[in-house]
Amino acid sequence: MKRFIQLNIFTALMMITFLLMGCSSVMGASTDSLHNQQLDHPPIAVQGAMDVEVSVLLKEMGAYRQETHGNYTYYLGKINKIPVVISRTGIGMVNAAASTALLIENYHPKVIINQGTAGGHDPNLHVFDTVIGSEVMNIGRLTSEHLDAGQGIRPRTWKFTKTEMRENGKIKEYASFRSDPKLVKAALRIADKYKHGKVVVGKIGSTDFWNREVDRILWFHKTAGTSAEEMEAASVAQVAKGFHIPFLSVRTISNSEVSGEKIEDLETAGHYCAEFAIEIVKALGK
Ligand code: 5AD
Repeated sequence: MKRFIQLNIFTALMMITFLLMGCSSVMGASTDSLHNQQLDHPPIAVQGAMDVEVSVLLKEMGAYRQETHGNYTYYLGKINKIPVVISRTGIGMVNAAASTALLIENYHPKVIINQGTAGGHDPNLHVFDTVIGSEVMNIGRLTSEHLDAGQGIRPRTWKFTKTEMRENGKIKEYASFRSDPKLVKAALRIADKYKHGKVVVGKIGSTDFWNREVDRILWFHKTAGTSAEEMEAASVAQVAKGFHIPFLSVRTISNSEVSGEKIEDLETAGHYCAEFAIEIVKALGK
């Protein structure tokens, strides 16, 4: 009985210690050394929504410290001696916004790179081509005109609606959010390091909708000028803008309804994009 009570006290103490540590854990390196590195220099943040979009980055870091805030996991370490925080955002616009706000508040990144997989909108883009997003647009932000009951739905008449941001007390409207031009140039400069397809500069559309209707996809491509679609970048860019943090979008095509291919390979595209993101981090750290 006495031994049982002692064991329970020990377990309770262990649990309290774990909670006080803020759910952080260390993978293959000492907490102190990694902690100090993070405090010395603001990190470059690299985001991926899914495990297949961050796993290559974690492998490249080798040793990292893992921290969780709410639903969201952050991995702190170094790539080529450059401090980085890898953020697994989760899928979708809400996850992207929430995890970006927590990323900024907790780690004060100097740059945010949002990267991963995407569906092609441009028929000239093939699976495993990569798009450097010069701008990102919330293509789910739409307004319709009034129709009476029984008149049906008319998606082609829907109008894209600008996003309002309050800046220095004044409302400013954005049709899209630009990636930092210097980051776009830096990524483009090392495009030859990407060996799995072509690298283009284009516009990325984001929304919580996986479009598979060819006419709808081509309508986005024509009216919004999008090269590809995914579910996070516009949300991340909006939050990053609010905090004046330079943003970059990079996406590798994992599927396309308009290129004639019958491939949907998020895992391979996720790995390829992360490999390219590593090269971008190395170039930025020079
Ligand atoms: N449409 C929407 N999201 C896509 N993704 C990859 N391809 C597509 C597509 N065709 C990405 C999203 C999300 C996950 C489901 O995959 O960004 O994170």
